[in-house]
Amino acid sequence: MLPSFVDCPAGNEKGSFIALDLGGTNFRVLLVSLDDTGLAKIEKSRKFVIPISVTTGEGEALFNFIAASIRDFLFDQALASHYKSLGFTFSFPVTQSSVNSGRLLTWTKGFTATGVVGCDVVQLLTEALHRYHLDNIHITALVNDTVGTLLAKSYEIANCDVGVIFGTGTNGCYRERVSSISAVPTSSAIDGHMIVNTEWGNFNCLPMNKFDRVLDEMSKNPGKQQMEKMISGMYLGQLVRQVIIDQIHDTGLFSGEFSIFTAADLQTHDISNFQSDTSADLVIIKAWLDNLGITHSSVKERADIRQICQYVSERAAKISAAAISAVVLRMDPQLECHHTIAVDGTLYAKYPDFKQTIIKTLQALHGVASRRFSLTQSTDGSGVGAAIAAAVASQP
Ligand code: BGC
Repeated sequence: MLPSFVDCPAGNEKGSFIALDLGGTNFRVLLVSLDDTGLAKIEKSRKFVIPISVTTGEGEALFNFIAASIRDFLFDQALASHYKSLGFTFSFPVTQSSVNSGRLLTWTKGFTATGVVGCDVVQLLTEALHRYHLDNIHITALVNDTVGTLLAKSYEIANCDVGVIFGTGTNGCYRERVSSISAVPTSSAIDGHMIVNTEWGNFNCLPMNKFDRVLDEMSKNPGKQQMEKMISGMYLGQLVRQVIIDQIHDTGLFSGEFSIFTAADLQTHDISNFQSDTSADLVIIKAWLDNLGITHSSVKERADIRQICQYVSERAAKISAAAISAVVLRMDPQLECHHTIAVDGTLYAKYPDFKQTIIKTLQALHGVASRRFSLTQSTDGSGVGAAIAAAVASQP
């Protein structure tokens, strides 16, 4: 549970801001304008693909890559001399003592860049900006992507009080009374409310089955982010792979032969395609198997694969609903108010039935009171939210 040192915007913030969105292998730089009526507009944006050698290399190279991307974006758009205030969405667990500083607690989602854990990422980026002669840019806000997502939606909808990501990773944040946050010193001048980043992906108390345990042991961060490993896009394909391997050995699926089946052969976007395959012969699954050299699969075997995908993704959506429910009950135990939950992430946006299963599970958990929950997609929330955080932080 990490305090963010930022609260939801009033909706009247105004101006143009540079936003950075770093959370996976794609990194985005955006120019966002805010009018004062709750409308945020992405004026320009550019996506950069960060090579894996950079996300797993030296920290200095990672921050140089980010600074070089900002420089390229500003020069391309002829903005270099204009913009000074920058909001930084950094989608990893960071412990903050102000809105414009934060130390990385640990990397997640396969990042391992050295020399960053324990350091202030705002300072590391400021130093890299200096190396690239971008001293006129000041990082005025650092936010988690869940916080960005909540800020972006609450700029337009006042009762939005939860931000959630179901993407490569998963996490949720919510609005809390500052007086209830023990991690914020009582001497702090901050009053009222503050957004809290729960880092629910690192909730490590759920029962694990044998597939979860194998996946965890094989991961870059064993023992950590165990709920994330049951829910998010980085892992669902690998969980399905573990179950298929088990079925090959135990029940003789594909006559026990499937030796060239590596992790790269089954990603979450593959299982998403399998689940949307409604053809009688399950042709998408057949094409994938054919490609791996399994040309004699039966329709029944292909249906089994589809069923495995369904079990794994349904469990993920049910746990996701339980997480949303727990956070809302923390704010409002009797469900007396309406809560808008801003959600971003490809899994939520694209995975077949993911959203519907969350809604059905909330109904199963809360009956008619589930009407108190409104899930709303916050596309680009993490990028836009960085600009809103910069706007909120720049207010007198
Ligand atoms: C990180 C969170 C982030 C989430 C979604 C997790 O791996 O720990 O900080 O919000 O991914 O991107």
